[in-house]
Amino acid sequence: MKGRVALITGASRGIGAATAELFKKAGARVLTPSRSELDLSDNSSIERYISSVEDSIDILVNNAGINFLAGLEELDQEVLGQTLQVNLVAPLILTQLVAKKMKANRYGRVVNISSIWSVVAKERRLAYAASKSAMNGVTRTLAIELGEHGILVNAIAPGYVNTELTSQNNSPEQIQLISNSIPLHRLAEPAEIAEMAVFLCSEKNSYMTGQVLVVDGGYVCR
Ligand SMILES: NC(=O)c1ccc[n+]([C@@H]2O[C@H](COP(=O)([O-])OP(=O)(O)OC[C@H]3O[C@@H](n4cnc5c(N)ncnc54)[C@H](OP(=O)(O)O)[C@@H]3O)[C@@H](O)[C@H]2O)c1
Repeated sequence: MKGRVALITGASRGIGAATAELFKKAGARVLTPSRSELDLSDNSSIERYISSVEDSIDILVNNAGINFLAGLEELDQEVLGQTLQVNLVAPLILTQLVAKKMKANRYGRVVNISSIWSVVAKERRLAYAASKSAMNGVTRTLAIELGEHGILVNAIAPGYVNTELTSQNNSPEQIQLISNSIPLHRLAEPAEIAEMAVFLCSEKNSYMTGQVLVVDGGYVCR
């Protein structure tokens, strides 16, 4: 990744922070804007941030995401709208903006961090599942639109990862039960998801595009 510029959203903690660390080790110059610099709930903030970046962005990791638990009867329109904005609309707008220079350079790598809840279901993940399932569709569509420009677009669908998001949405007792139900008998560490992002965003990945890679310790095989 030497000489490449990578933008990673949501890198203040969790999977994003681990990805930023590994990308730096791989030689990339990594842009990790804080929420005050790049607020994904606000499209004008996205446009302002991208126009403030002078360098061409070669690599985009759409990692930031939110997951407010709500079933059908609890779901209000604000939660639905906010989830779709941060998890789906913002990554799409970011890709639209950075793809211009990627096309001119005839090189680009985009990785969208999806979720196993785009592949299998769990109650009270309605808005989240809608956003991540749509993200998979966006990944495939962009792969075919951008392929001729040398831009590869893939998604990673993590299972349960040891981050604040997981401890916010699951009690310690639930996490224990979940760990027991995963064939590898543990949650993923953020770095294990980041390793996959490093491969997909590096020049070693020269032929994989449009894929959703499930990284879940075997959870969805059950
Ligand atoms: N953890 C899991 O088990 C798991 C499983 C499957 C998929 N994922 C996906 O992986 C990604 C990262 O998850 P994580 O567990 O590492 O999350 P996390 O620990 O909750 O961190 C979320 C990150 O997103 C940022 N963010 C949230 N809303 C934002 C906004 N409006 N504008 C800009 N940044 C915003 C946060 O920034 P602040 O510091 O400003 O809050 C933070 O850096 C998400 O897309 C998530 O859906 C996670």
